[in-house]
Amino acid sequence: MPRKTDLLFPKKFLWGVATSAHQVEGGTTNQWTEWEARQAPSLAAQASYHYDDLDNWDAIAGEAKKPRNYISAAAADHYNLYEKDMEIARRMHCNAWRFSVEWSRVEPREGEWDEQEITHYRRYVEALKARDLEPVVTLFHMTLPIWFAEMGGFETRANTRYFTRYAQRIIRALGVNVRYIITINEPEVYMKLGYQDGLYPPGKLDQRLARRVLGNLAYAHNQAADAIHKLNRRYRVSIAKNSTYIYPGDDARLTVRAAQAMQFRSDDMFMRRVVKTCDFLAMNYYTSERVYGYRVHNPESPLSDLGWHMAPGDIQYALERWHDKYKKPIMITENGVADDRDDYRKWWLMTTLIAMQKAMGNGVQLLGYMHWSLLDTFEWNKGFWPHFGLVAVDRRTMKRSPRPSALWYARALAKIRKEK
Ligand code: BGC
Repeated sequence: MPRKTDLLFPKKFLWGVATSAHQVEGGTTNQWTEWEARQAPSLAAQASYHYDDLDNWDAIAGEAKKPRNYISAAAADHYNLYEKDMEIARRMHCNAWRFSVEWSRVEPREGEWDEQEITHYRRYVEALKARDLEPVVTLFHMTLPIWFAEMGGFETRANTRYFTRYAQRIIRALGVNVRYIITINEPEVYMKLGYQDGLYPPGKLDQRLARRVLGNLAYAHNQAADAIHKLNRRYRVSIAKNSTYIYPGDDARLTVRAAQAMQFRSDDMFMRRVVKTCDFLAMNYYTSERVYGYRVHNPESPLSDLGWHMAPGDIQYALERWHDKYKKPIMITENGVADDRDDYRKWWLMTTLIAMQKAMGNGVQLLGYMHWSLLDTFEWNKGFWPHFGLVAVDRRTMKRSPRPSALWYARALAKIRKEK
């Protein structure tokens, strides 16, 4: 563990965990559930083609080859077990919690609001407040009501008014119990995987449409943020942006220029369209990329279960870059590692905490850190085998078992928060 004096964070710092509705709740009916039902057999059949070069292939093959791995079904049954899960976070000494509202539950048909489901989320937030967990609510985390997807979703600018209406309705219902609001999670990932690569619904391969969708997502965010601010100026609104830190591996002009251009395309091109309506910046950080010439060539290092390059310490530079560029407070709204055996998560957390501390020492105004994830979740088109949870979930019994890294995080938070 880093030395005591290494870990001095502000008193109000938000320490939390993050989840999203579709990935943990279970029992959802949205455009993803339809997609899963259609795609599961082919995803299972292609598993060895996609993943058999991973080091952990032998361990995951059994699950990855089964169609049921790709169906969210009961997920982690968090819809019913949320109070138990919040208790785990409270016992881990967290004081914050990021989650998403499932739009398809609260507005299952256009203009028809399900009051019971709205009450569910109101109670959910009350349950957080009762445990001194500050809610950080996301309104759109990859899943859409079927009626909205069928009318073209974010392909059409006019449709964004439905999103604004939903945002207003939910924020009115949650009222003063929430303060931090994320309108949209990772707009570029939604656009790229859904419209360029065809890997997420609606599974299209259409560059022009992809650009239009991204523009509409920026517009949707700006509209929703304005509407939420009109309800009450005290709301702190943002959009969760995936950020990869991209840096030159040598000082050749070509390398330096290429890295700058790649970083600009990856972060700033979208950011500059939304930054004005953001009260703070929400960063989802998972990895960095080292560039030589035009190519990404990362240092040799162990890879995560998903084969991702692990560079938790580089979050420092990602934070400092955003700070220099945008001069706004930042919240880390996702950060974590797929690591079933929990070999790396403790190191990941420790390295990240030190990197955050250094960034703060260099002027970054950091509001909080939400680890992805509290639980093992439904990892979209990969299904259930990648395990991001501090807490393992046995999906037959729904039993939760904290991994050793969860105990480390709990001890670190106890120490950090007591030092105040
Ligand atoms: C998404 C999460 C996802 C995580 C790990 C982020 O891109 O917001 O939904 O589970 O990355 O892949």
